[in-house]
Amino acid sequence: MTHFPDNFLWGASTSAHQIEGNNIASDWWHLEQAPGSFVSEPSGDACDSYHRWREDLALARDAGLTAYRFSIEWARIEPTPGRFSSAELAYYQEIVSTAIAYGLTPLVTLHHSTNPAWLATKGGWANPDASTLFARYCAYIAPALENVRYICLINEPNMVALFPVMSQAGAADFAQKLPAPDPAHTAGLIAGHHAAREALRPLLPYAQLGWSIASQTYHPEAGAEELAAEYQRISEDVFYDAAAGDDWVGVQAYTCRRVKAVAGELLPAPKQNVKRTLTGWEYYPPALEECVRRVAEYTGLPIVVTENGIATPDDADRVAYTTDALKGLHQAIADGIDVRGYFHWSLLDNYEWGTYAPTFGLVAVDRRTFVRTPKPSLAWLGGVAQANQLN
Ligand code: BGC
Repeated sequence: MTHFPDNFLWGASTSAHQIEGNNIASDWWHLEQAPGSFVSEPSGDACDSYHRWREDLALARDAGLTAYRFSIEWARIEPTPGRFSSAELAYYQEIVSTAIAYGLTPLVTLHHSTNPAWLATKGGWANPDASTLFARYCAYIAPALENVRYICLINEPNMVALFPVMSQAGAADFAQKLPAPDPAHTAGLIAGHHAAREALRPLLPYAQLGWSIASQTYHPEAGAEELAAEYQRISEDVFYDAAAGDDWVGVQAYTCRRVKAVAGELLPAPKQNVKRTLTGWEYYPPALEECVRRVAEYTGLPIVVTENGIATPDDADRVAYTTDALKGLHQAIADGIDVRGYFHWSLLDNYEWGTYAPTFGLVAVDRRTFVRTPKPSLAWLGGVAQANQLN
């Protein structure tokens, strides 16, 4: 029997910059317009969810999902340093209350990859004031979060700390080697996480606070084990260490990383003839179970799977991949690991950080009319949610 625990959350994930559109006060918007940047396609209107979010929530509810993950955009709340928008705060508050009215438990992310452009021009997370500024923004939005149980303070800080490295190296270099997160940005993000947690604890005693880390399951070739462990330490474990004292930790897992050691350096070891997804990642559904087991053992914290999914043009592939990923997750839970929920990435075919080509959505979005067309996988996942088991 593949029964999941009672009250297990079954949701879909989104993020503001990837679906709202016209996020013009953000650093990513500026990056997208900059000549010669590694970004090939600008986000533009995205899915126009800034206006169509009710429709998005209704799609999730009607399919049978019980939860919805979205993010609040710092650049909209504080487009100019110290100038906060109460209208934008009310806007996000309405998304929270509508989700609850629709029977969807909201899981709200307070920072998903983007910074206000004004912070980026001052060094972003490497600025010594970044953590205080982030905590100030979090405190400002606390009133919108009063009825939110799960709050993800920062999404994938380990990827955010890579952006400055990627911008300098360029996409081509990035494909060849394994870049390390920038140390100053890493330190700033960890400080920001702790400062926000401290600011929110007294304001939101009901909330369960955590953050979500991009998790990889490493498959090193013989001789590369130590280098792989060291790389995982700087690119993941320091962020898990910083989760000590949190209420939960978010696991986001998609694929495995095969690595080899060449002259003392850790390099990607592409395995020939494996099935790959639209992002070029290896099709590897056990990634979720392997990451959940490792993170549970490493952190000892309750886990929420805040992202898992597949970029594919073939929706049957999405169902097959997710079925296998969920079987593994169920096995981990059966072995005693405390997992509170599963949020599929993503509800919509959205902006994949530089391109619209990789389609992760349970729902297709027409790029010109923004008409939403649910794929069969949406009803399938909603059915799993309603049954609370895999059939
Ligand atoms: C991010 C999402 C992204 C997804 C698929 C995660 O890295 O949090 O924003 O779209 O993976 O690439």
